[in-house]
Amino acid sequence: MRAIVVSATGGPEVLTYTDLPDPEPNPGEVLVDVAASGVNFIDIYHRMGRYPLSLPFVPGNEGAGTVAAVGEDVEGVSIGDTVSWTNAMGSYASRAVVPASQLLAVPEGITAELAAAVTLQGLTAHYLTHSVHEVKPGDDVLVHAAAGGVGLLLTQIAKLRGARVIGTVSTDEKEILARQAGADEVLRYDGFTDAVRDLTGSGVHVVYDGVGATTFDASLASLRPRGMMALYGQSSGPVPPVDPQVLAQGGSLFLTRPALGPYTATREELAWRASDIFGWVASGDLKVHISGRYPLAEAARAHEDLEARRTTGKLLLLP
Ligand SMILES: NC(=O)c1ccc[n+]([C@@H]2O[C@H](COP(=O)([O-])OP(=O)(O)OC[C@H]3O[C@@H](n4cnc5c(N)ncnc54)[C@H](OP(=O)(O)O)[C@@H]3O)[C@@H](O)[C@H]2O)c1
Repeated sequence: MRAIVVSATGGPEVLTYTDLPDPEPNPGEVLVDVAASGVNFIDIYHRMGRYPLSLPFVPGNEGAGTVAAVGEDVEGVSIGDTVSWTNAMGSYASRAVVPASQLLAVPEGITAELAAAVTLQGLTAHYLTHSVHEVKPGDDVLVHAAAGGVGLLLTQIAKLRGARVIGTVSTDEKEILARQAGADEVLRYDGFTDAVRDLTGSGVHVVYDGVGATTFDASLASLRPRGMMALYGQSSGPVPPVDPQVLAQGGSLFLTRPALGPYTATREELAWRASDIFGWVASGDLKVHISGRYPLAEAARAHEDLEARRTTGKLLLLP
């Protein structure tokens, strides 16, 4: 099979396109012919060594394709099924072995490419809006990087739940996309707290902050008393240690640093979120914006574009 391998951590240049022996599924696993691999910010952290993995490794933990072989002790999955997954490393490849526990059946009418584009970020937007903070009609919601992969989905799902969405973006092109996704107000990052206060009076009910270092303090300052700060990422860099007293000063604020794993810990929870996401995609309520399709061999270019803030929506690698 063809794959990207990381043998030493570093910049995009360490993503090496190579041939590897075809993998075999062990008991409880399934071999998939990959139609598309999702590119996510966490892949950059793995590549850089910020979240250390043992070397060498095949990066990528999201994809979709067709089942090519089924290991022992796997039920309910057959050769030829269209499936997607997240939370299973090794997706930057033409073939991937995936634990059956992570597989999602892709409903008819949704292509494998679309499934690869919406699985990780869709599940993330779902748990953020349904579990970290249950968005209710009339809520004021602040979504940073609103034209990004998670951001465009968060914006649409918060609107489906009846919220007023205030988005932040860095460019006019990104503003157009955020508005098309339903954002009621779109701001630039400079001085966004004052603008949020002007719009809401007392501040927003929840901030979804995947940007981190450059937005964190102003995000906290944009919350109403007892508001929820959902720091779910750090595309601008890690947030320094926080004094809990700032939460009291802000009016008994909540701060959480959530991750997808604990919010899809049981098969039931994973299936519930996936069924909502695929259902909305099938009905047209949730639009998936794929802004970049790169040959697998050009994974490095996809990483460069994502790190340089040149992208919107989802990036895919095609083997
Ligand atoms: N906790 C979880 O469960 C979970 C799951 C998925 C993703 N995440 C995290 O969510 C964040 C967004 O992920 P994504 O894949 O959807 O990426 P993305 O939002 O499509 O891309 C990152 C965006 O962040 C903004 N940004 C602001 N400052 C930046 C900087 N200094 N460098 C790079 N980007 C900057 C840019 O948008 P503007 O140009 O508009 O500012 C950029 O397009 C990442 O931190 C990721 O790790 C977390």
